[in-house]
Amino acid sequence: MRNKLIIIGASGHGKVAADIATKMNKWSTIAFLDDNSNIKTSLGIEIIGKSADAFKFINDCDLFVAIGNNSIRKKVYEDLESKGASIATLIHPDSIIGQQVEICSGTVVMPGAIINCCTHIGKGCIINTGVTIDHDNIIEDYVHLSPGVHLAGNVIIGKHSWLGVGSAVINNITINNCSIIGAGAVVINNITSSGTYVGVPAINIHSRRN
Ligand SMILES: CC(C)(COP(=O)(O)OP(=O)(O)OC[C@H]1O[C@@H](n2cnc3c(N)ncnc32)[C@H](O)[C@@H]1OP(=O)(O)O)[C@@H](O)C(=O)NCCC(=O)NCCS
Repeated sequence: MRNKLIIIGASGHGKVAADIATKMNKWSTIAFLDDNSNIKTSLGIEIIGKSADAFKFINDCDLFVAIGNNSIRKKVYEDLESKGASIATLIHPDSIIGQQVEICSGTVVMPGAIINCCTHIGKGCIINTGVTIDHDNIIEDYVHLSPGVHLAGNVIIGKHSWLGVGSAVINNITINNCSIIGAGAVVINNITSSGTYVGVPAINIHSRRN
């Protein structure tokens, strides 16, 4: 671990990441990179360059990709990883993490999140505010669980999926890669083909229209 942290992305998500990093008290200096040249600071933290400048900092700083979009976050993460960057993991001190929980690099766990025992969280995930993940879950790489998502036990969320705010998944469910679950949806059946699923119970948005 280095004593400087560079956060790529200074928007709302980036600010929350910076707030968590500050509370972790592990880095003496935190700075942002952002492609919007109209903003100079965010959360009182200086923006010192554009995202493409990240490679200049690879040898001296930890890096964190604070980009909400799963595909863009994955691309930026993988570019950095391929160049040997040290990618930080951000875990808010007011989250609760059970035993035998593995959290991979580049993931952020936000305040109030609870991750129960024997769960795996992949790399580059967003475990947003107040999410609960129960025992024996597998959250694959670059998943975003929005604020207030609740996952029961033995759930598998396929890579790159996005679960909207307040959605819930009952126990023993598998959700396919690249799925989108709408805000407030309740998933009670396995999702075996990618798409957008909404409602209670959650169904494919196109089936709903037909
Ligand atoms: C599911 C979602 C991605 C769909 O977005 P979209 O593809 O742009 O869909 P649209 O807004 O065009 O809506 C399409 C239809 O689905 C319905 N719909 C959209 N989201 C819905 C939801 N969450 N629950 C129930 N119905 C929903 C719309 O009412 C619309 O119905 P209609 O065809 O009868 O008019 C989006 O509505 C959503 O829920 N996003 C989650 C946002 C979130 O949680 N953000 C947190 C960020 S940290």
